[in-house]
Amino acid sequence: MRAITAVRPGGPEVLEVLETELAAPAAGQVRVKVVAAGVNFIDTYRRAGVYRTSFPHQVGLEGAGVVEAVGADVTGLHVGQRVAWASSESGSYAEVALVGADKTLPVPDELDLEVAAALPLQGMTADYLTHSTYPLGPGDVAVIYAAAGGVGGLAVQMALAAGARVIATVGSAAKIPAVAALGVPEADIVNLGALSDLTVALPREILERTGARGADVVYDGIGRATFHATLASLRPRGTAVLFGGASGQVEPLDPQELNAHGSLYLTRPKLDDYTASRAELFERGARVLGAAGAGKLRVNVGQRFALDQAAAAHRAIESGTTQGKILLLP
Ligand SMILES: NC(=O)c1ccc[n+]([C@@H]2O[C@H](COP(=O)([O-])OP(=O)(O)OC[C@H]3O[C@@H](n4cnc5c(N)ncnc54)[C@H](OP(=O)(O)O)[C@@H]3O)[C@@H](O)[C@H]2O)c1
Repeated sequence: MRAITAVRPGGPEVLEVLETELAAPAAGQVRVKVVAAGVNFIDTYRRAGVYRTSFPHQVGLEGAGVVEAVGADVTGLHVGQRVAWASSESGSYAEVALVGADKTLPVPDELDLEVAAALPLQGMTADYLTHSTYPLGPGDVAVIYAAAGGVGGLAVQMALAAGARVIATVGSAAKIPAVAALGVPEADIVNLGALSDLTVALPREILERTGARGADVVYDGIGRATFHATLASLRPRGTAVLFGGASGQVEPLDPQELNAHGSLYLTRPKLDDYTASRAELFERGARVLGAAGAGKLRVNVGQRFALDQAAAAHRAIESGTTQGKILLLP
């Protein structure tokens, strides 16, 4: 079977299509025929060696497909079942993947498997950010960056559904309609591409829109380019949620900066810690896939690539120009 492997740490060019043996699922695993694999920023961090990874590295965490073999000790899963996952033990950019049975999420009948593949990682991330890291409710003002992107577009919908006001950012005017379509008033969409110095101009935009109060929470997945603006955009005792580094990782921080900006809270969360138990993973996964299946969560699949186009898919997500989800179709 064909799988995408990063043969050494580096840029998208290190991704190669390799033929590998079709392994039998070990105890506790299922083998899944992959219908679609989700492309995520974490795949690029691992490929580049930013996150500790051993090489050669078979790439991809997320996907959806159909169970084709079941290992020993697996209960409650059968051949032919439709499942999705955010964590694959063999790499999801492949025709076939091995997935821990306890990491699988059942896909509702009414949900297309391609759409299901777009959701586990970005959808459960948006879910924990808006429901658990800083649980949003009516009266909250939440700033969400990259709102036309994968996590951003889903988090916007969840924040609005919780009754919060969303101030959203996009990197270019071309992305404004996609965010407006989610229900954010155009007056609350800030185009970062039109600002010359983000550290000064972005907080000014947020303070202008909140009567100089600042936001209750900023969800920052951009990182290096926006982090200081994030701190300056919060109200006293507000919460900075740094959940990624699409523009690069943030430099070490002097805690006095949190003091200077008004006794701020800072957290750097990751999905694994919000899906650590089977019960929590299942609850979040069911909520996200269920909402999409019921038509209450809009999933924007922005681009689809063939498996052997994985390098192009990585170039696309790293370019910052994409909207919605990027999928690989084996
Ligand atoms: N901690 C977790 O649990 C977790 C889980 C999933 C994802 N994440 C993080 O969430 C962030 C978003 O991930 P995603 O998969 O949903 O991607 P995405 O938002 O679809 O794409 C990233 C977006 O970031 C913006 N961006 C700003 N500066 C950029 C730059 N220099 N290079 C590239 N992009 C830039 C772009 O949007 P604009 O042009 O609109 O600004 C771009 O579209 C990433 O940092 C990722 O690592 C974290």
